[in-house]
Amino acid sequence: MDDLFGDMAAGMPEREQLAEGALILRGRALPLEMALLAAIEGIVAVAPFRRMVTPGGFEMSVAMTNCGAAGWVTDRRGYRYDAMDPDSGKPWPPMPEAFLALATEAAAAAGYAGFVPDACLINRYEPGARLSLHQDRNERDFDNPIVSVSLGLPATFQFGGLSRTDPVRKIPLRHGDVVVWGGPSRLFFHGVPALKDGDHPRLGRVRLNLTFRKAL
Ligand code: SIN
Ligand code: FE2
Repeated sequence: MDDLFGDMAAGMPEREQLAEGALILRGRALPLEMALLAAIEGIVAVAPFRRMVTPGGFEMSVAMTNCGAAGWVTDRRGYRYDAMDPDSGKPWPPMPEAFLALATEAAAAAGYAGFVPDACLINRYEPGARLSLHQDRNERDFDNPIVSVSLGLPATFQFGGLSRTDPVRKIPLRHGDVVVWGGPSRLFFHGVPALKDGDHPRLGRVRLNLTFRKAL
């Protein structure tokens, strides 16, 4: 048999619960792959990836950009959402239709009907880049879930609990996988340890991650 059912062959169920309110939807983004990659190219042409600085003064290893009405930014003044790209002084590019469709559909499949994100953070990991354990808590309220889409090189996703010291599950995420967390797990700590080198047939030595949020 060819690899049409690669996920099943690899023993990965199509839906996997991570915690209460948190679900992995394997391969959910694959039907939209081409539209997503084309849309990312368009966004990056207007708002290029950049390595932002944390409030503590460290340059992040993950390069970031945004689309939507608000974009997540960090600098010496802190973490926040801003309607403007600080590098250009202009609004972030609008959220592409394919992004919105995927985020709403995946959220609904995970039990969060009516999710309409207004922000999408786009992360670019090169080999060695990492995102240390953190909570997503710069959004105005936590009633809406986070929808996270993985593209390119595989990564390990760490998913803990409400406390930084809670035990952490380590889940492999691959091209096309979508993770949704909300409700009781909305504020769970999560992160991505250093990306392993590799060569993805579509994206080369890169992992891209889209996280959709209702920020405003
Ligand atoms: C994030 O927490 O913003 C990104 C998670 C990921 O890259 O999978
Ligand atoms: Fe996050």
